[in-house]
Amino acid sequence: MSEFAYADFINGQYEPLLSTDQIQKRITELAQEISDDYENNCPVLIGVLNGAFIFMGDLVKQLTINCEVDFIKISSYGKAKKSSGKIDVLKDIDCHLEGRDVLVIEDIVDSGLSVKFLEQKIKSCEPNSLKFVSLLQKKDSAQVDFEIDYLGFWIPNEFVVGYGLDFAQKLRNLPAIYILK
Ligand code: PRP
Repeated sequence: MSEFAYADFINGQYEPLLSTDQIQKRITELAQEISDDYENNCPVLIGVLNGAFIFMGDLVKQLTINCEVDFIKISSYGKAKKSSGKIDVLKDIDCHLEGRDVLVIEDIVDSGLSVKFLEQKIKSCEPNSLKFVSLLQKKDSAQVDFEIDYLGFWIPNEFVVGYGLDFAQKLRNLPAIYILK
């Protein structure tokens, strides 16, 4: 494909997968579940940049508990043709996680390598508890077994964009989620 432009999206190279309504309804359910489970806690929500920024924003607005937020950015060797076998931390978590209840917020789980890496890294900080939230998880693409505690949707193993998910850093701003045809 030539250099991507927003016009390609408008011209129909993408088909709808999840509408804004579907996404928001599911987020309301997830927020309720998390609020119930953490009623007497003040969890730290760690957003995984960049993709999770919209999902995390919408999710925290619907939580009815005290919480704190922080962010981490990691390199994504999982999708590289030649794996270096190593994930690098590009922006680390600032807050102290020892003894805290931690919720990692992802937009999508594909190979599972990112969440596996984050699990090991955060566990080494000795949190009181650690759970994972992801809006999406791809079927039939896992390289490692990983069970997401709060999952929005299982999706087909396709390239998806929108609602935080990018194609060459663009299309994150779409309010719904689309498959690249
Ligand atoms: C995406 C996504 C996850 C990771 C999942 O991030 O946000 O962090 O890939 O893939 P995996 O399960 O195969 O590890 P990406 O590296 O594309 O960066 P971005 O969030 O900035 O788009």
